[in-house]
Amino acid sequence: LEKIIINTPASRSEILVGERWEKVFEMIPSEGSVIITDDNVKRLYGGTFPDIPVLCVTPGEASKRLEVIENLSDQLLNIGTDRKGFILAVGGGVVCDIAGFLAAIYMRGVRCGYVSTTLLSQVDASTGGKNGVNLGSSKNMIGTIRQPEFVICDTTMLQSLPEDEYLSGLAELIKTAVIGNRDLFRLVEENIPEILSRNPELLIHMVTESVRFKGHVVSEDENENGLRRILNFGHTFGHAIELFKGIKHGFAISSGMVLATEFSAERGLVGTEERLRILRLLENFGLDGEYYISDDEMKNLILHDKKKTGDTIHFVFTRGIGEAFTEKLPVEEVLGFYRRYREKNYKI
Ligand SMILES: NC(=O)c1ccc[n+]([C@@H]2O[C@H](COP(=O)([O-])OP(=O)(O)OC[C@H]3O[C@@H](n4cnc5c(N)ncnc54)[C@H](O)[C@@H]3O)[C@@H](O)[C@H]2O)c1
Repeated sequence: LEKIIINTPASRSEILVGERWEKVFEMIPSEGSVIITDDNVKRLYGGTFPDIPVLCVTPGEASKRLEVIENLSDQLLNIGTDRKGFILAVGGGVVCDIAGFLAAIYMRGVRCGYVSTTLLSQVDASTGGKNGVNLGSSKNMIGTIRQPEFVICDTTMLQSLPEDEYLSGLAELIKTAVIGNRDLFRLVEENIPEILSRNPELLIHMVTESVRFKGHVVSEDENENGLRRILNFGHTFGHAIELFKGIKHGFAISSGMVLATEFSAERGLVGTEERLRILRLLENFGLDGEYYISDDEMKNLILHDKKKTGDTIHFVFTRGIGEAFTEKLPVEEVLGFYRRYREKNYKI
């Protein structure tokens, strides 16, 4: 069991990696607790839930909507949840984003904790306190930053994940390694078969390293005014690809990482050897998909991204494995790279 504490000016959050998830029922208040989960997770793990109210959402991104929050609030009111209530999310990033947001606003805030059940949410979504829902096609437009009291990451729960969900989470883990942890990168490089077979002990180690790095970044810059932006490595192009192609977050982000690595190489920031190591690692897991998007479409998609300010964008570059930094660039410069890369590499 590894415990990582995240201290921010307003709160303290504990991430427990390798803890048995059933332990959570000893951690929540015996009265006033409510579980929020989705149908898949309930089907797989609901048999072990204690006798407390369980509110279920439909699995998938489409549940990240304000109507769902309103509906859940109604249900909380009906079962008598008051300010002393405790919301326990048991699920992936979607459930944690919904439950965290609901806990932040229901009766102006109730306590909450998460059992994080996907690799993506263990390495990324449940650390850092961001929560929220989408507004139409604009992702995460409405939400808050508020740390859950605890997050349990039980890596044995990852055994039941569909393969594409597992790989999607792995992409975020590799991102963390590229931007901030050379040792983690090497560990992934050297253990590909064990990673693919989801060795729980190895996963405890990898998730811990990933959470520790994100926790450090979030403690320094909870509101994303500076350092936290490096977590968006691969996300400028990745979000565009995700939006346009409708593919899973991790696959889109990893393709975005390919482009961000190539952009870094074009600028002479990363040498050939390290560039190839990054690209090869993604390729080994089938995370290097190429998605043709025209220059105009790419421009619209990037301009649509909420992280841009005016005509500039904070682009995240790598300076080699384990090092990243952001630079404020005109969107045109990012698009200029895209055009050159596309002309050289994509056959239409
Ligand atoms: N808050 C943040 O900082 C942050 C960071 C990254 C991503 N996110 C958000 O996270 C969401 C994606 O999260 P996700 O990839 O976990 O998706 P998800 O929550 O939709 O889970 C993916 C699928 O796996 C199923 N599932 C969950 N746990 C399972 C298990 N143990 N075994 C079998 N099936 C299981 C779910 O029912 C769902 O069908 C996106 O909405 C994204 O915006 C948030």
